[in-house]
Amino acid sequence: MEKKVAVIGYGSIGREIIAATKRGEIPNAKIVALFDKESQVISSVGYDNSELHLYTDFNEFYNSSIYSNLDIIIECASKDAVREYGKKIIESKKDLIVLSVGAFSDKEYLSELQNLSNLNNTRILIPTGAIAGLDSIRSVKKYLESLTITTTKHPKSFVGAPFFNKSKIKLEEISKKTVLYEGNAITAIEFFPANVNVAVSIALAGIGLEKTQVKIIADPTMSVNKHEILGKGSFGEIHIIVQNIPSPTNPKTSYLASLSAIECLRSFCNENFRIGT
Ligand SMILES: NC(=O)c1ccc[n+]([C@@H]2O[C@H](COP(=O)([O-])OP(=O)(O)OC[C@H]3O[C@@H](n4cnc5c(N)ncnc54)[C@H](O)[C@@H]3O)[C@@H](O)[C@H]2O)c1
Repeated sequence: MEKKVAVIGYGSIGREIIAATKRGEIPNAKIVALFDKESQVISSVGYDNSELHLYTDFNEFYNSSIYSNLDIIIECASKDAVREYGKKIIESKKDLIVLSVGAFSDKEYLSELQNLSNLNNTRILIPTGAIAGLDSIRSVKKYLESLTITTTKHPKSFVGAPFFNKSKIKLEEISKKTVLYEGNAITAIEFFPANVNVAVSIALAGIGLEKTQVKIIADPTMSVNKHEILGKGSFGEIHIIVQNIPSPTNPKTSYLASLSAIECLRSFCNENFRIGT
C-alpha cells in the first residue's frame, strides 16, 4: 500500500530523496509535503503546490490535513530540527527517519523520545548514512572491547565547525594533513555537528558515546570523505573503510548518506523482504 511521506529539509539529502521518489525509484512511496524553514529554499523548489505541499512554518505544516494523513516523516535538516520537532512528530503517532543523528548524543533526549515512541507505537529509524556495517556493529556490541572511527575530509568540509571557535588551529591555514580532534563521540559531535553524525550512529549501535573513540583529520589532498571504523573484541575484528564522494551541493555531506536515506525509505515502504537488517 502506498505510504504518504513528508520531508523536513530541502538540502543535499532532501533533494535527492524527493528526486528519487519522483523518478519512481521508491515503489509505494509518495512524497506529499516538504517543510524547510528557509523561504528562499522553498521558493527554489521546482514543484508546485499541486505536486507537493510546501511549508516554511512548522506549525502550519503540523496543523494541516496533509500532515494528519502522513505515514512517515524524514528529517534531513539539522540537529536542531530533531530537537525542535522530534517529540511533536512522535506524539502525533508518525514514524520518523532521522538523518541528523547527532541530536541523539544527548542521552536524556534520546531516551525521552524512545519512551514517547513506545507509548505512541511509532518507530524511529536511523539509516546507516555515510558509513557501512551498523548491522554488524550492533550484532557484536556485547563482545566489543574497543570501537574507533577515524574521519578524514578536505578542510573545506569543516567550514563553520564550532571546533574552530575554541582551537588555535585556523581552518584557512591548514596546508597539510592535520589531526583536528581525538576524543569521545560526545565532544566530537559538539565540535563538528555537520561532519560526524556517523560517529554518533556507530556509538549508539556499539558501545556508547563515551567509549567510542573519534579521530578527525583535515587533509587538503582528499577528494573523498573517508571513514575508517575499527571494532575489536572477543568476536574478532571488524574493519570498515568507506570512501565517499562528497555531495556536489554540500561537501560536508557524503553522497552515500542520500542513497542510504533513499534505501531506508524504500524498505519502510516495501516491508516484506529486507536484507542486512
Ligand atoms: N547520518 C549520516 O550519516 C549523515 C550524513 C550526512 C549528513 N547528515 C545530516 O543530515 C542533515 C541534512 O544534511 P544535508 O547535507 O542535506 O544538509 P543541508 O545543509 O544541505 O540542508 C539542510 C536543509 O535543512 C533546512 N533546515 C535546517 N534546520 C532546519 C530546521 N530547524 N527546520 C526546518 N528546516 C531546517 C535548511 O534550511 C536546509 O535547506 C544534516 O544535519 C547533516 O549533518 C547525516
